[in-house]
Amino acid sequence: MPSQLLERNFASRMLPLAIAAGLIAFSAPPLFYRFASISELKTHAEIYAAQLASSVEEAAEQEPFFWRYNTSKIMWSTSAHRLQEDIGTVTIVDCAGKTVFDGKELELGTGNASGPTGWAAVKVGNRNIAWVRVIMDTAMHRKRYLLIMLFSGCLGAVLGLLLFWFPRRVVRRQAGLLTNTIIRLEKAEKDLTEANLKLSRRVRQAVGAVRSISERLIGVQEEERRRIARDLHDGVGQAVTALQITLKLMRARPSEAKNHLAEAERSAEEILKEIRAAVFALRPAMLDAGDLEEGLRDFVERFELKTGIPASLRATGDLSAVSESLGSLLFRILQESLTNISRHAQAKEVGVTVVVETDCLRLEVSDDGRGFDPEDVSHGSGLRGIKERVSFAGGEMALKTSAGRGTQVMCRFPVLRRGDER
Ligand SMILES: Nc1ncnc2c1ncn2[C@@H]1O[C@H](COP(=O)(O)OP(=O)(O)OP(=O)(O)O)[C@@H](O)[C@H]1O
Ligand SMILES: [Mg+2]
Repeated sequence: MPSQLLERNFASRMLPLAIAAGLIAFSAPPLFYRFASISELKTHAEIYAAQLASSVEEAAEQEPFFWRYNTSKIMWSTSAHRLQEDIGTVTIVDCAGKTVFDGKELELGTGNASGPTGWAAVKVGNRNIAWVRVIMDTAMHRKRYLLIMLFSGCLGAVLGLLLFWFPRRVVRRQAGLLTNTIIRLEKAEKDLTEANLKLSRRVRQAVGAVRSISERLIGVQEEERRRIARDLHDGVGQAVTALQITLKLMRARPSEAKNHLAEAERSAEEILKEIRAAVFALRPAMLDAGDLEEGLRDFVERFELKTGIPASLRATGDLSAVSESLGSLLFRILQESLTNISRHAQAKEVGVTVVVETDCLRLEVSDDGRGFDPEDVSHGSGLRGIKERVSFAGGEMALKTSAGRGTQVMCRFPVLRRGDER
């Protein structure tokens, strides 16, 4: 686990630091005390020596020759040394280096002469006649030193422990949090991977759907071409064949040509009409002129004229804003629906409604004909083609029909305005 690793790493680095801090806390105060106390003792030794030397000087001035035999008395009368418990020994040495007084005689000082030494000269006039030497006793200071060492030892141990234990506790807690975060991150990463997988699956499905829609759309276009070819064959083809027959007759019997002229003219007119109808069926001129409403109205009127079934168009909203591609699609839907009505419905009346709202466009083509079972449309491709085109344009189509109850083809699109097209 990374948290345990972190904790171990931290512990291995923090331990020497804590030990070092503990050692410093342990050794610094006693060392400082020792240094300070030694220099203080040295100063004291020099002051005591100077005081004693001045007492000796007074005696030497009064008794220039005999003072050296009265050193004990001189020392005894000097009170300065008595109060000082830290004096080890006091010695007076004359110019020849001979000891003229040793503190041991008067039990002057503690007798422990292990500390710093202070010297002071005994002068009479300008002449040094002797030296007073004071050696300090460090016993008391040593005791204090040991006490301080004990105290600082405890302090160092506590400090070292605190320095190691507290940060380690903090690190352990943070490592716990870190572990939780890592676990959460791992889970989030897993979720993300799953979401990614789902997404790519969906993208693949969507790509597949788009591909199949495009394939079906191509199929629909092929079917439409076939139908136009069939219409041309049935309508124009038959009229041209009739014209050909008439022309052949006229060539075979030029004397009777006049009789067949009217028939030939009728056939030519028929061909022209069929071609115009086919061209219109392919794309009414109104659409190219950009007037969708007029184009739809014209188509409905032509339907009425051709079939004799009363048909009306009700258009609401601004159709001029509708994009060209959506306009073409509306025209195709109307074309297929009206063709179906004329071929299958036996309707008495047809109604076409186009409504443009703020965010959608609705087209409804209804008839009062014989209706049909919407589940049973497998043999034709017209309605299927409409459905696929509508869904390709982002809209939806619904059929409302049942036997004897007429038919309603309803389409709904998000409005695609002019200029929105790519
Ligand atoms: N308005 C309608 N009234 C009654 N029946 C209809 C109507 N529209 C469609 N149908 C029925 O639904 C069937 C399928 O129609 P669809 O337009 O898909 O094919 P089709 O018209 O038969 O052939 P095509 O591929 O030439 O369009 C039709 O054969 C017809 O039976
Ligand atoms: Mg059809």
